[in-house]
Amino acid sequence: MYHITRRYGFAASHRLHARQLGAEENRRLYGKCNNPYGHGHNYVIEVSARGPADERTGRVLDTGRLDQLVRNQVLTPFDHRNLNAEVGAFHDVVPTSENLAIEICRRLKTNWSTVFPGEWPKLHKIRIAETERNIFEIEADEIQ
Ligand code: NI
Repeated sequence: MYHITRRYGFAASHRLHARQLGAEENRRLYGKCNNPYGHGHNYVIEVSARGPADERTGRVLDTGRLDQLVRNQVLTPFDHRNLNAEVGAFHDVVPTSENLAIEICRRLKTNWSTVFPGEWPKLHKIRIAETERNIFEIEADEIQ
């Protein structure tokens, strides 16, 4: 059994602001990340799959198919977007990298079988680096 990871990147802006909390509490909680006009990140995401090497091809997955899935579900909808305003999932959910990781994982998981219809490979985990020092990881089995 192998784990294979492929790396992608996109740029997006966001503002950390919880609607259910007041202005002062938002400022206290999120600091400069709560600035009204937002700020940007060059996100690096790593998508990991697991599975055996296919007997015929000697490969775990077709990276071209994975690229197509990630492009359609993540890069096209998120790149050069404002996450709060332009991604429906973040109208009411704060676009922290924790929540972004869940949203990316959910999108890939939901559409995985259309690109990889067989038993293998399976989506294993998503890792997202918001900055060089802030890295978030979630396993596909942990979300619905
Ligand atoms: Ni930020």
